[in-house]
Amino acid sequence: MILVTGSAGFIGSNFVLDWCAQHDEPVVNLDKLTYAGNLENLATLKDNPRHIFVQGDIGDAALVGRLLAEHQPRAVVNFAAESHVDRSIHGPEDFIQTNVVGTFHLLEAVRAYWGGLEGDRKADFRFLHVSTDEVYGSLGRDDPAFTETHRYEPNSPYSASKAASDHLVRAYHHTYGLPVLTTNCSNNYGPYHFPEKLIPLLIVNALAGKALPVYGDGQQIRDWLYVKDHCSAIRCVLEKGRTGEVYNVGGWNEKANLDIVHTVCGLLDELRPRADGKPYSEQIRFVTDRPGHDRRYAIDARKIERELGWKPAETFETGIRKTVHWYLDNQDWVSNVLSGNYRQWVEKNYAGRTE
Ligand code: NAD
Ligand code: TYD
Repeated sequence: MILVTGSAGFIGSNFVLDWCAQHDEPVVNLDKLTYAGNLENLATLKDNPRHIFVQGDIGDAALVGRLLAEHQPRAVVNFAAESHVDRSIHGPEDFIQTNVVGTFHLLEAVRAYWGGLEGDRKADFRFLHVSTDEVYGSLGRDDPAFTETHRYEPNSPYSASKAASDHLVRAYHHTYGLPVLTTNCSNNYGPYHFPEKLIPLLIVNALAGKALPVYGDGQQIRDWLYVKDHCSAIRCVLEKGRTGEVYNVGGWNEKANLDIVHTVCGLLDELRPRADGKPYSEQIRFVTDRPGHDRRYAIDARKIERELGWKPAETFETGIRKTVHWYLDNQDWVSNVLSGNYRQWVEKNYAGRTE
């Protein structure tokens, strides 16, 4: 069996759903259920005996130690993190606590467990750490895309905390020999994406007749990957990756934010036209930029393709269409996540931004 952390969140829940659909191997799912964790994402696994959910913190080494001893997993996949750049700007402390201190305690518990394994079980054990391209910092317009050897230059409290966690994972391999794998992936989008992030926020706001907030000039570039492709990359690295190695994961889909906004508006115009017949793009508003906003991310995904044979299945066009369809078909999920907590966040993040 495998232990997956943070799997009630966006990417983790997609990973566990895909895993349970494709494997017989059971999953223990450890998640603290912060504002970003949502058991509704895993509702279809409720009666699945191969999925065990445990609410808890990766920083609780005693709990993690107990889970490892009881379930004897052959791998740990670590998704658990605070993940939103804007939230890290408003309040960095939770990011340090979970992403740095939490990862450290998790590594300690895993090291103790792995140290007690023997023979093939010890040799075959893997700790896969899911990280982000944001640790590499910001690229100029004509710079080559991030390779695995690009210097770490994190610019936000979020990316700095993820960078710190990557360094700890690296050190546990180098110092203790823990068989680790690290993936650094570009921006994901797809089902179960919490509507604080750009793409789901656009869909939700557009349908509610609200403003579509574009930070600054909207010319910041992100490299977008459909979440199911990220999940397939993680499965591939877990199966075939060389321990101690880092694999960059990306979709070769660099897009300016404003182009994303227009693409989403165009799809909604087609699939769910406004009652007044006007285009959703009328709702676009340019608002105050994010402090320290990284200008461009781009992933060079040649290593994972060359060494492990992984490639994304979706283009941006197919993935974004699936995503918009999913949100249109899952309005109940959307209404359930738009809780009081979510409304307070929207007030905090957007109230101070002038048009
Ligand atoms: P998310 O915020 O949607 O989910 C995070 C999950 O972790 C939530 O279920 C939350 O309850 C849980 N969690 C938070 N703190 C915890 C703790 N201390 N102990 C246990 N569980 C805890 O995030 P996501 O977008 O699904 O990202 C998952 C991972 O992938 C993160 O490590 C993130 O850095 C990385 N990543 C995300 C993206 C992206 O575009 N979203 C891209 C590359 C890498
Ligand atoms: P986001 O989805 O928060 O991901 P990240 O900051 O990790 O890349 O944001 C994606 C891009 O969209 C980023 O450049 C910030 C921008 N953005 C907006 O322009 N408006 C918004 O309301 C949000 C949430 C993000």
